[in-house]
Amino acid sequence: MNPAAEKHDLIDPYGRVVRDLRISVTDRCNFRCQYCMPAEGMKWLPRSELLTFEEIERFARVCVDHFGFDGIRLTGGEPLVRAHLPKLVERLSSLGVNVALTTNGATLRLHAQSLADAGLSRINISLDSLQRERFLELTRRDELDRVLDGIDAALEAGLAPVKINAVMMRGINDDEILDFARFGRERNVFVRFIEFMPLEAGDVWNDKVVVPADEIIETLQAEFDLEPIVRGSEPAERWKYSDNSAEIGVIASVTKPFCATCDRVRLTAEGQFRTCLFAIDEFDMRAVLRGELNDTALIEEIERAVGTKWAGHSIGQVNFIRPKRTMSQIGG
Ligand code: GTP
Ligand code: 5AD
Ligand code: SF4
Repeated sequence: MNPAAEKHDLIDPYGRVVRDLRISVTDRCNFRCQYCMPAEGMKWLPRSELLTFEEIERFARVCVDHFGFDGIRLTGGEPLVRAHLPKLVERLSSLGVNVALTTNGATLRLHAQSLADAGLSRINISLDSLQRERFLELTRRDELDRVLDGIDAALEAGLAPVKINAVMMRGINDDEILDFARFGRERNVFVRFIEFMPLEAGDVWNDKVVVPADEIIETLQAEFDLEPIVRGSEPAERWKYSDNSAEIGVIASVTKPFCATCDRVRLTAEGQFRTCLFAIDEFDMRAVLRGELNDTALIEEIERAVGTKWAGHSIGQVNFIRPKRTMSQIGG
């Protein structure tokens, strides 16, 4: 049967339905976060290797029209360093799918309104410290004020709920848990504390640096009255404050992996398809996109790739292998 003929769910070998696509639009970034990149010497992809907006749109259209995907998230590197990003958002949102963005927020004041006008549904902003000196040390850029202003710009553009991603690292920023919670309550943004995952190319990660989600929640509960929110397929466990509409969450990739409900796949900036953040194998969708004019080959290649999706990562076990690429190259 011609696979292009019929729309159907994309089901992996463990019976999970794949519905969520994360697309990295660039490997470049205007920050140099310690856990993500070296201070100098990153080799960037040449422009000709990046998927064009037309290629990204075609890939996304197949995922939405043929496989019924319901969400697309744009990531980087830093997605806002890719020129004309709102144009891509407009193309993707016109496919009738939710389009979200994960950004470091540094240039959001310039882009928030045009992203909202282009149909962006949601925005997540990475912020690992509320202290200027520490922010500078972690990102190697003195940009805290611009990120805070970017958060305001996102709210002013109506991009609520704005979520803040704070990667927690023992002895580095775990003394800021309550400060982040107060910040979230004051600004009405949803803070998510993220367990540090072994992904960086360097050697910042070890299991002692991970701050377990249970410890984060205990710290929060000592100060605030929290009510759990029933969880769907998303990675975050969520709570709401009983006296306030803001939420708070933790993403416990290390101590409580959420692989059993994983519904996502990824496309890197140069068109490599990955069925897991920690995947070792990649599938060259750019070659298919550039080689074939009809979508049948693309549909078949996506099905072949998803047929290899594993049950889950094995962080903490002896058989765990760190992906060779940095987070900025994979795309968060
Ligand atoms: P929402 O849909 O708003 O909940 O976004 P999200 O949490 O799916 O995406 P975001 O880009 O904000 O990522 C938050 C954190 O989750 C980051 O640390 C990501 O690296 C991590 N993350 C995203 N996808 C995966 C995944 O498939 N597996 C694991 N282990 N972590 C992931
Ligand atoms: N562990 C957990 N989260 C990470 N991020 C980057 N590297 C790691 C890591 N090793 C986060 C960023 C951003 C998102 C895309 O992933 O802070 O919020
Ligand atoms: Fe840039 Fe994000 Fe990597 Fe920091 S974590 S260097 S903001 S891609």
